[in-house]
Amino acid sequence: MEMEAKTKPWLVLSLFLLAANCMQQCVHGKPRVSCLFIFGDSFSDNGNNNNRATNAKSNYSPYGIDFSRGPTGRFTNGQTEADITAARLGFRNSIPPYANTSGSDIMEGVNYASAASGIRPETGSQRICIPILTHATTQGDIISLEEQIQNHRDIYNRVVKKLGGSNKAKKYLSKCLYYMRTGTNDYYGNYFLPQVFSTSRDFTTDQYAQDLVRRYSRYLKTLHDKYGARKFLVFDLGRIGCTPYARATYARSRRCAEEVNDAALTFDRNLKSELERLNTNNLSADAKFMFVNTTTKLDTDPTSLGFTVVDTPCCPTQLNLSCIENGRPCRNRDQYVHWDGIHQTQAANEITADTTTDAINCLLIS
Ligand SMILES: *[C@@H]1O[C@H](CO)[C@@H](O)[C@H](O)[C@H]1NC(C)=O
Ligand SMILES: *[C@@H]1O[C@H](CO)[C@@H](O)[C@H](O)[C@H]1NC(C)=O
Ligand SMILES: *[C@@H]1O[C@H](CO)[C@@H](O)[C@H](O)[C@H]1NC(C)=O
Ligand SMILES: *[C@@H]1O[C@H](CO)[C@@H](O)[C@H](O)[C@H]1NC(C)=O
Repeated sequence: MEMEAKTKPWLVLSLFLLAANCMQQCVHGKPRVSCLFIFGDSFSDNGNNNNRATNAKSNYSPYGIDFSRGPTGRFTNGQTEADITAARLGFRNSIPPYANTSGSDIMEGVNYASAASGIRPETGSQRICIPILTHATTQGDIISLEEQIQNHRDIYNRVVKKLGGSNKAKKYLSKCLYYMRTGTNDYYGNYFLPQVFSTSRDFTTDQYAQDLVRRYSRYLKTLHDKYGARKFLVFDLGRIGCTPYARATYARSRRCAEEVNDAALTFDRNLKSELERLNTNNLSADAKFMFVNTTTKLDTDPTSLGFTVVDTPCCPTQLNLSCIENGRPCRNRDQYVHWDGIHQTQAANEITADTTTDAINCLLIS
């Protein structure tokens, strides 16, 4: 009884706050942040590679089979995790790809993500052709994280013009959310691609993770220092040794490639502590870097969520990687974690988006 009496006012207060929060945020359908900028790779790409000289594209069937606009360059059957997150934040329109912002309001944000890109500038840029290793051939003209940040400078300049000055632009941009999800290709398409790159001979996994995080941190600081970014959502890599591609390519079996998982976890730990360092370093009064750990029940207990197939892609793939053009995908797409060799189905993206939404709630409250 006494416990109950003590906890009740707290409960009532938090329910009240929750309701007040929801009345402010949900009822009027206004986005909880007014702008969202997305940086990264194929997990978030929504068409930036379509007209570039690269084979890292997905603007063909069966990609987009469950998407209202069909194949768009999204690497999934329906919505990406970033699409789902944007919709949950209240954005009515999807965030436009940088490659085509015409007819869109850049004040709501831009998506710079480019498939096959990574943190290191050479990741995904190879043009050499190795028979068998299609993954290693002609990725070519993709947009590295550094170039994505240069593209953001262009958008920043447009915001400055629009609002009439850099102070006003920075003030506006400080309220936006910066969604950063990259690094997987620095492993799949660089460190674990010794036929093309020497990084695995030049660095231990620990040194490599430190190198990547040092570079990543510099890019985050650039966004903060030059373009007024303050609210950062920064994703881990998670268990990238368990994609159908990694199982087939590195473990050469149905088992997860633990060597890849271990290297990714080393990166994740380094990234997490770097973000903690940035948070305590007081870059500015309102800067906040939120680490997103994407490991969920999808990895540990997928059947409890209704997913029955975890090690096989839904679409027929070439080299266990991307969907074969016009290949016939599985019908029960809600039961597959993976759409192609690397990317999740929309159903799985919705689960990951729960984690992202929690992280955003923390980021926006604090
Ligand atoms: C660019 O985006 C607009 C608005 O979303 C769309 O109508 C148009 O088809 C797109 N153009 C290209 C070349 O993708
Ligand atoms: C992310 O979460 C998983 C599962 O809870 C955990 O094993 C892993 O250590 C976490 N990653 C980091 C960098 O803390
Ligand atoms: C960071 O700023 C906060 C509040 O402005 C202050 O309390 C804290 O001592 C500062 N920390 C460092 C390391 O300067
Ligand atoms: C990987 O590709 C090979 C050759 O196409 C195929 O035999 C194998 O079943 C695939 N493995 C997985 C896990 O999809």
